[in-house]
Amino acid sequence: MKKKIVIANWKMNHDFYETTSFLRNLLKIILERKINHKKKVIIAPSFPFLQISNQILQGTCLSISAQNVHQIENGSYTGEVSVSMLRSIGVQQVILGHSERKKYFFETNEILLKKIHISLKYGFSIIFCIGETFFEREKKKHFSVIKNQLEKTIFQFPSEKMNFFIIAYEPIWAIGTGKTATPEQAQKMHQYIRSLFMEKYGKKISKRISILYGGSISETNARNLFSQEDIDGGLVGNSSLRIEKFVKILLS
Ligand code: PGA
Repeated sequence: MKKKIVIANWKMNHDFYETTSFLRNLLKIILERKINHKKKVIIAPSFPFLQISNQILQGTCLSISAQNVHQIENGSYTGEVSVSMLRSIGVQQVILGHSERKKYFFETNEILLKKIHISLKYGFSIIFCIGETFFEREKKKHFSVIKNQLEKTIFQFPSEKMNFFIIAYEPIWAIGTGKTATPEQAQKMHQYIRSLFMEKYGKKISKRISILYGGSISETNARNLFSQEDIDGGLVGNSSLRIEKFVKILLS
């Protein structure tokens, strides 16, 4: 059976002290409670703390991920971070396509395609986010929106690259709002996403690919969400910032 994956997306939160003490405490708890036997845990801290986080988690069952990366290899792009820079400090995973990147930093499918290309070139695993707006769901367009997002991005890549991807279905209306998709709504969409992978890449890949849910996951709703057949774990924002809450989610 696939291990469930839980990812902490800390966004622009936690300074040096908060990051390092959180990770040391979390590691202790995970080992004491043997959480690592049940879940794969990935932490996505801010850029300045990736290196120290990697050092703290070296040789443990936890791994780290960047929250973003630039689409160009190197050059005059003030303030940006390249994949080769991340790799040089031991980072091998990146979150791409988060709706906050689309909303505040105008990331389009074209930019995302380039980001995927460069990340794959450097052998990175990609946690790829997709999701619909509230309006699109109201108009009953959510399934076609998700299909279109996949077709314009991941589905441009061949089957042998699919083991580099983790999918995160994050309905935009549920991110940071306290409104979660019901387990049934999420399951329906996850099943649909898996069926799209089945159509495009066949049974083996569709079964193997992990599809995580994200959007207001909390210690109270995680268990129900994670118990759904096609939900392989979660991408957690707010509730990953407090260790007690995050541990409860890991135990769900
Ligand atoms: P949230 O964020 O859990 O705070 O809704 C999830 C995410 O943005 O990945």
